[in-house]
Amino acid sequence: MVDFIEWNNDFFLNNKEIDNHHQRLFEIINQLYSAVLESIHESKLEQIIEELFQYSFYHFEYEEDLFARYNYKYTYEHVKQHEMFTDKVKDFNIKLVMEDKKLYLEILNFIKDWIQKHIPFIDKKFVEFMKAGQIG
Ligand SMILES: [Fe+2]
Repeated sequence: MVDFIEWNNDFFLNNKEIDNHHQRLFEIINQLYSAVLESIHESKLEQIIEELFQYSFYHFEYEEDLFARYNYKYTYEHVKQHEMFTDKVKDFNIKLVMEDKKLYLEILNFIKDWIQKHIPFIDKKFVEFMKAGQIG
């Protein structure tokens, strides 16, 4: 099956830890997408959603700790973006039956769109800021 959200070089930020986190997020999202299409059991679906929630929380905390450490000047805007994502993932947590696939796909499409705008621009801006700081 073709991945729902495909990784390409635009997503590499040349920060090993952050790149690994992002790749893991892609994996979970693709797993969730195929789970929805394959109409797998609701409990398994909830497990993947929980993983997406936990992992994105862990990853955003990791980035936000770095903002603090580097005294990043766009912290506020960036954290707001993370909150948008988290709020959307929370929409999955309502008890939905498989007839509501359309809603799942709508949320998944939001997430995909968010990631495609976030990583290559907003995260990239921060990683470049960190790197510039390390040179000086
Ligand atoms: Fe971010």
